[in-house]
Amino acid sequence: MTEVWSAERIEDAARLLRSGALVAFPTETVYGLGGDATNDLAVARIFEAKGRPRFNPLITHAPDLATARTLAAFDARAVRVAERFWPGPLSLVLPRALRCPVSLLASAGLETLAIRVPAHPVALALLRAAGCPLAAPSANRSGRLSPTTAGDVIAELSGRIAAVLDGGSCAVGIESTVLDLCGAEPIVLRPGGVSREALEELLQHVVETGTSSDAPRSPGLLDSHYAPERPLRLEARDARPGEALLALGPGPAPVGFREVRWLSRSGDLMEAAANLFASLRAVDRPEVAGIAVMPIPERGLGVAINDRLRRAAAPRPH
Ligand code: TXA
Ligand code: MG
Repeated sequence: MTEVWSAERIEDAARLLRSGALVAFPTETVYGLGGDATNDLAVARIFEAKGRPRFNPLITHAPDLATARTLAAFDARAVRVAERFWPGPLSLVLPRALRCPVSLLASAGLETLAIRVPAHPVALALLRAAGCPLAAPSANRSGRLSPTTAGDVIAELSGRIAAVLDGGSCAVGIESTVLDLCGAEPIVLRPGGVSREALEELLQHVVETGTSSDAPRSPGLLDSHYAPERPLRLEARDARPGEALLALGPGPAPVGFREVRWLSRSGDLMEAAANLFASLRAVDRPEVAGIAVMPIPERGLGVAINDRLRRAAAPRPH
């Protein structure tokens, strides 16, 4: 059961979030499906609750610019944009900060982070009370309309989340603009609550329009996703010389690997998703000849794990 809570229950919601549970909350754009962005398992739960067939990177929410700056690397241009439009319906894609505590799963393995400070009193109070950044995609199941009332959220996600904070209907009603500030040219990856004209006026620069990872991506864009440098072999049932194994229980791992890392000993696909990107990085070292992955069942989050692994294993141009 999912309960609809009035805004007075912010402390309770914050406690749930700190324990790794999911809480939907209002923002000025749409309701977000929130989880502790620094908790791999909470982020995996978000993907599970949405029923996403693949890991799209999620937007991380912070209570203020100072907190956001501990998570992502802001240059002078990014600070200027944030000071003008935050709190508000604009997400900035920036390099992850050094020792960024946000789950690699929230970034879908990318070296970058999408981050915003929402302009809604309930969202801001929740972020402050929780004391952790919140990953929050729109609180709908994958492929469906974004919710703008607590009732919409219940219709979408009842039984899949712990609670919904009711903050009335969302003023903006469409998602935030996603602006990529990683390169020399600012790029709008998703149009939204802040117009391109408003961005151009501040930046004194033409803002290009690109595609977000919601849209089909060109192979070139796919390259920006993390793929290990070592060759990746899927559906592995036996060892080859020098390989590391990413293992999935509940059965035993095949023997003969130079190193075995469990995605989940019990075969829990949520746990496996939570561990996926960190495990890939951990074994991607020069002394490892290749990375083998045991078969992952094609159900639940296994679909998204397999999607990600197949793309990481695909032949690369370089
Ligand atoms: O208005 C909003 O932004 C809502 C509310 C709840 O804040 N949130 C939202 O989050 O729409 P989400 O996770 O559904 O949107 C993610 C968008 C996708 O288009 C995704 O491709 C893009 O942000 N995105 C996230 N991280 C990215 C990254 N590192 N690089 C490029 N695009 C990124
Ligand atoms: Mg969405």
